[in-house]
Amino acid sequence: LLSSPPLPELPAAYFPATTPPAYSRADFGPDFHWGAACAAYQVEGAWQQQGKGPSIWDEFTRRPKAIARGEHARVSTDFYHRYEQDLDLAQGLGLTDFRFSVSWPRVLPEGLGAPNRRGLDFYDRLVDACLERELRPWLTVYHWDLPAALQQRGGWTNRAVVGWLADYAQLLARHLGDRVQHWMVLNEPMVFVGAGHALGVHAPGKRSLPAFLAAAHHATLAQAEGGRALRAALPASARIGTTFSCSYCTPARPGQAGSEAATRRVDALLNRLFVEPALGLGYPTQELPALGWLLRRYQQPGDVERMRFDFDFWGIQNYTREVVRRAPWLPLVGAALVPPAQRGVPVSAMNWEVFPESIYEMLKQYAAYPGAPELVVTESGLALPDEAAHGRVPDAARTAYYQAAIGQVLRARREGVNVQGYFPWSFTDNFEWAEGYRPRFGLVHVDYETQVRTVKDSARWYQQFLAGAEVRV
Ligand code: NOJ
Repeated sequence: LLSSPPLPELPAAYFPATTPPAYSRADFGPDFHWGAACAAYQVEGAWQQQGKGPSIWDEFTRRPKAIARGEHARVSTDFYHRYEQDLDLAQGLGLTDFRFSVSWPRVLPEGLGAPNRRGLDFYDRLVDACLERELRPWLTVYHWDLPAALQQRGGWTNRAVVGWLADYAQLLARHLGDRVQHWMVLNEPMVFVGAGHALGVHAPGKRSLPAFLAAAHHATLAQAEGGRALRAALPASARIGTTFSCSYCTPARPGQAGSEAATRRVDALLNRLFVEPALGLGYPTQELPALGWLLRRYQQPGDVERMRFDFDFWGIQNYTREVVRRAPWLPLVGAALVPPAQRGVPVSAMNWEVFPESIYEMLKQYAAYPGAPELVVTESGLALPDEAAHGRVPDAARTAYYQAAIGQVLRARREGVNVQGYFPWSFTDNFEWAEGYRPRFGLVHVDYETQVRTVKDSARWYQQFLAGAEVRV
């Protein structure tokens, strides 16, 4: 085992008073999933190799000023060629599970039609390499890299995407279902719909209310239809989930009615929009009547039923909280977020507030739905501007963050929440979308010039924790 150094003094936010004072892996039971996560576009590289077609991210990163410093992921961490070395490291750290996504245009260069045999072969090798190392593979079907050919047909704004996604999911299920037990249909629909179609900061770079509404409704349908497609093609033992981004929302002025109501609206938008339809509850129109009314334009009779799917688990992905103030002049939500810089709180390299209790609050919130499935934390992490020197990366703040966040997961478990896994984001540093390579999330540092991997101090800590070491706060 590698040794992990002592933690320096960090702001109290890193260790809220609610953190369990001492805990270890054993407190989570023997079947808890301890993984790490990544996604195809963020790590694979090999953007034009072996028959892969272009994705909307290959195109979006070409737009001037779309990405910080003009970066792109044509090579990234070269996971396509280096996955065995990376999985060796994951095994060495003692992980039990490994989450990745499939690149849709790598297996279906045109988005539909004839599969690319060499693309499918890569995922065969990747899955086998996981299994050889006793890492359970967790497969995300869609992590944002839509085939460019489908964008030409309207992408997420075209209702036909529901069928395209389902066919693609079924291809993967038929091909890999004998070896992959854990499946996730979509990664964070709120982010690819909102950042991609309303804010224009992610691919396909649209800033349009109609595009946002259409994409939102089609993603909600595709989430459920994808689940049904997987269920039909997978063995009965398969576990079918999907993932949601979420941030605990708190009012800028607690107790003030307007501020509290604004907070409920932002919570409905960020944390409920894609979740409640899956439960058969439809959209949260009570809090967001205008949005509900606008969404109706895209709905067909029977859609409330079509949006429903009985997932085996929900992947919960959490990084921060949001503080909300009322802003009646802003359409749809009448609310705005107070930037962390104005609140004087510690922030990550993403400028997100460090607030580990958010994960506890969101687990409690989701577990409270009648009919909620098992929960799995499929992403959680902290971005820092890490640097490697002499074979080490001293990222004590990340270790502290994981200790606090995992403590909050335990706190939720102790209060009866059925949460069964924790996946740090990310296994290695990678391409952080519009932010490029500068914010680093990895347990393992990547030097993008040389492709040298360096195990960070936080990964050394995670290794010790997985080997049984106690966390004492
Ligand atoms: C959510 C996304 O799923 C992932 O792709 C991204 O890198 C992390 N959060 C950090 O922003």
